[in-house]
Amino acid sequence: MADSQETNQVGTSKLPINIDISSSETRKAGTAEPVTPKRSWTEPSRLILGWRLARDLGTEWFDKGGNRSHGDQPPNMLEGISAASIAMHTAIIAKSGSGKSFFLGRYLEEVLLKTDATVTIFDPNADFRKFSEVEPCVWQKHENGKVKDVAWNPCAKSRPPLPHEKEMKEFSEPWAKVKIRVLGGADPSLSTSTIMEEMKFSWKGLSSHLLLVADRGRDEIEPADFATLHVYVGAIDDLYELYSVGLSEKQRGEVKRLSVADCMTSTVVGDSEKTRRAISHIISDAKSECEKIAGAAENFVEPESNREQSTKEKFQAAFRNAALVKKETKEHYQRIHRVLEQRGRISGVSDPLGLADRSFRARVIDMPSFRDREDRDMSVLLALDAVWEDARGEWERATNNEEVNESRRPHLIVIDEAHNLIPADTPLSPVRAEIRERIKTIAGEGRKYGLFLVIVTQRPDKVDPQVLGECGNQAIMLVPSLTIIQECRERMGLLITEDEAGMIMNKFGKGYVWLSGTWSPNGPTVTFAAARRTKAGGADLPKGWMVPRKEVADVFRTLEMSKSVSQS
Ligand SMILES: Nc1ncnc2c1ncn2[C@@H]1O[C@H](COP(=O)(O)OP(=O)(O)O)[C@@H](O)[C@H]1O
Ligand SMILES: [Mg+2]
Repeated sequence: MADSQETNQVGTSKLPINIDISSSETRKAGTAEPVTPKRSWTEPSRLILGWRLARDLGTEWFDKGGNRSHGDQPPNMLEGISAASIAMHTAIIAKSGSGKSFFLGRYLEEVLLKTDATVTIFDPNADFRKFSEVEPCVWQKHENGKVKDVAWNPCAKSRPPLPHEKEMKEFSEPWAKVKIRVLGGADPSLSTSTIMEEMKFSWKGLSSHLLLVADRGRDEIEPADFATLHVYVGAIDDLYELYSVGLSEKQRGEVKRLSVADCMTSTVVGDSEKTRRAISHIISDAKSECEKIAGAAENFVEPESNREQSTKEKFQAAFRNAALVKKETKEHYQRIHRVLEQRGRISGVSDPLGLADRSFRARVIDMPSFRDREDRDMSVLLALDAVWEDARGEWERATNNEEVNESRRPHLIVIDEAHNLIPADTPLSPVRAEIRERIKTIAGEGRKYGLFLVIVTQRPDKVDPQVLGECGNQAIMLVPSLTIIQECRERMGLLITEDEAGMIMNKFGKGYVWLSGTWSPNGPTVTFAAARRTKAGGADLPKGWMVPRKEVADVFRTLEMSKSVSQS
């Protein structure tokens, strides 16, 4: 960013498509006609993270120029990063309340506007529940790019959000094109957002390994037997799929399928004749149920014979294997299903995050909306699994197919309050331990699959050191303790000088960021984070509590009055 050529690409010189770039300066000589400068939209834009700072930490030009305006600032007054640098694990570290989530929001907005990357946010504080909504307050202290507030202090430790666009529409119009899904427990009493969707998983799509992890009694269970049962239930489901070829999506939902409990009891058979009969009974049952829903005979589509043959054979083998599994294991399997079903987490949806629909760019997993911790943890684990499997599958397909490879995009996995999901010590809960393992695997092997972590924390000492060590982009905001700065130096190999440490601890206020790594290839830079322009759901307390209640204030007033009367 110290490189002036690089810096010149920041800001107005590379704006996204929808922005009105005509200004009074860009008029044809002698005419009133605005000239639209030629732009090449194929070149990557730089992501604008903040405002360049002067030595006194005031935002240079903006504060010092006398005019105090934005939207027309010279590009080198903004700190930008290259689009390429986001394909890297990233760490954002600062004490609570110093603007980590605000800066994260800003970063993700830029990622979604200026690149074609995908983002999945594990959101512990509902900071992104309203990510699709624009925050108009950001522009309220400004009018047509000029500051309205005369009391604006250039070097204040706390300052209002500073956008770089002159007007709200420069952000809101392109932002409206970014499709976002908010998924959660969708408890109606908690959900205020109309876009919150309930996160559900397909039983068949869940791996038996994850199901066992979810179960506390897993020590008594032989994992291979458990997997055998899961394959068997999946094979029955495949039979129903086979015979519902001609059915609509709605009709498929109406087919009366064998329940998991029935699947378990139907395997208890003895001699080979009995087995044969039970097998053919289940097959004919699946077929007749689908025929029934099809209604008229012409609506039922006979499956292709090769496919029918192989599906039946797979089912027969799965049935015979499942018949050998102990009764207790079957009961156990059934119980785990019942628990997830009771939590409302099971449905026929095979793609819980809708990852196949690439038009959605961001997914927010709204963690506070889950009813209890177990439900939330399991959903986080299953969501991580879905992201991992999707990326792995795409990588697999891309190795054989040029076109698929061309369409691959980075997928950022964002973990705020990362000390909770990736703690340094192994968690006691098996689900939590598995979550941590998954994230560690992404830290180690994710690059190959295009998966990159963005971890945010106030306690780097409490985050798994391997994961921190993998982060190639770093943002340090206000950190009041030398111990934490020392942790950052040691765990992430950061070269924070003594002067810089003093500045971070003593001079930084909300929103000040020390950037390093791939984000800042010519050495660390310090910036004031430009405004997050979307609504933060888990908002701060409003200021109203800072005055006494009316009944108390009335007493104060009466006392004051009687004091002044007695004095006069
Ligand atoms: N760059 C900034 N400009 C203006 N206000 C900011 C900035 N960063 C943070 N804030 C304010 O500080 C509050 C706390 O920030 P937040 O991101 O929630 O902190 P953290 O995640 O570190 O606890 C935000 O709601 C916002 O009002
Ligand atoms: Mg936060």
